[in-house]
Amino acid sequence: MTVSNRQLRWAAAAILQEQLVAFPTETVYGLGANALSDHAVASVYAAKGRPQFNPLIVHVRSLEEAHYYGVFSETAWALAHQFWPGPLTLVLPRREQCRLSLLASAGLDTVALRVPAHPLAQALLHEAGVPVAAPSANRSGHISPTQAAHVIEELGKSVAIVLDGGPCAVGIESTVLDASSELLTILRPGSITKPMLEATTHQPVVYAAANSSIHSPGMLESHYAPDLPVRLNAVDTEQNEALLAFGVPLVSHAGLMLNLSPSGNLQEAAANLFRMLRELDSNGRKRGLKRIAVMPIPSSEDNSALGYAIQDRLTRAAAPRG
Ligand code: TXA
Ligand code: MG
Repeated sequence: MTVSNRQLRWAAAAILQEQLVAFPTETVYGLGANALSDHAVASVYAAKGRPQFNPLIVHVRSLEEAHYYGVFSETAWALAHQFWPGPLTLVLPRREQCRLSLLASAGLDTVALRVPAHPLAQALLHEAGVPVAAPSANRSGHISPTQAAHVIEELGKSVAIVLDGGPCAVGIESTVLDASSELLTILRPGSITKPMLEATTHQPVVYAAANSSIHSPGMLESHYAPDLPVRLNAVDTEQNEALLAFGVPLVSHAGLMLNLSPSGNLQEAAANLFRMLRELDSNGRKRGLKRIAVMPIPSSEDNSALGYAIQDRLTRAAAPRG
């Protein structure tokens, strides 16, 4: 789980040679490519099987570097100052004539920027010296990876190297906030919650309407999906179901079960979510089970906003498959 300086230099060199590198961030593992290279960015879309209308997040070392690529309003600057490095992605107007691959922002006139806090992500960005476009390192529509082994399983053949930083602390992807216009809009909820953002902006922050696919092309309904179907808000289980519990598990359930957080802690649940979905999926299929039932997670937009972000991922995991 420790990465040597040699591996780090190797990874940076691979980025500069337009290859793909998987690396840990505090949220999930990313599939990184040189964001200045159309060729490298194109191979990210190819490796993931990702539609090219779904733009990528560009990772940079610092707020100073972010200014080369995005135009910051005063509010956007205040948010970046408060939450970077950390799990907040800001969608901003793309600076004209900036050197970023247009493919990274899928031809939009905005760009999604984030300064990750994970020391290995920071070390890679410093060593490579270029911005790194990185979606979550999973096949498009599948569950995001929170451990190096998840990446190797799904995308091992596509990457030059996987930097193993152990399990990701946050466990769900960054909050994506559209700060490209006056109305601050959360395109993807995450661990930096609406009340946290509003405490900095002193102005209301809204959630994008569920069907605002135009806003964020990535917000496709079915996403984060295991192979087994998912049933939400389960208060009982059937014989052919595995259980993803939260808090005190259902007494009636005797079969395969994992618990997101026995003590009902939302941070712990977020960190466990994707790994447990993967494990229930693969062990459930081995045992011939037909579905994953998930107990209710307390979630409201304001009071338990992290639960809201977890519920968002679960809803997409349970959505009808396209
Ligand atoms: O935590 C994270 O954000 C991880 C780690 C690796 O940093 N990355 C990640 O990337 O989750 P990805 O590509 O799986 O999700 C990026 C999201 C997508 O929903 C995409 O549609 C949205 O950000 N996005 C990117 N650029 C955008 C833009 N210009 N306008 C609107 N949405 C954008
Ligand atoms: Mg993703």
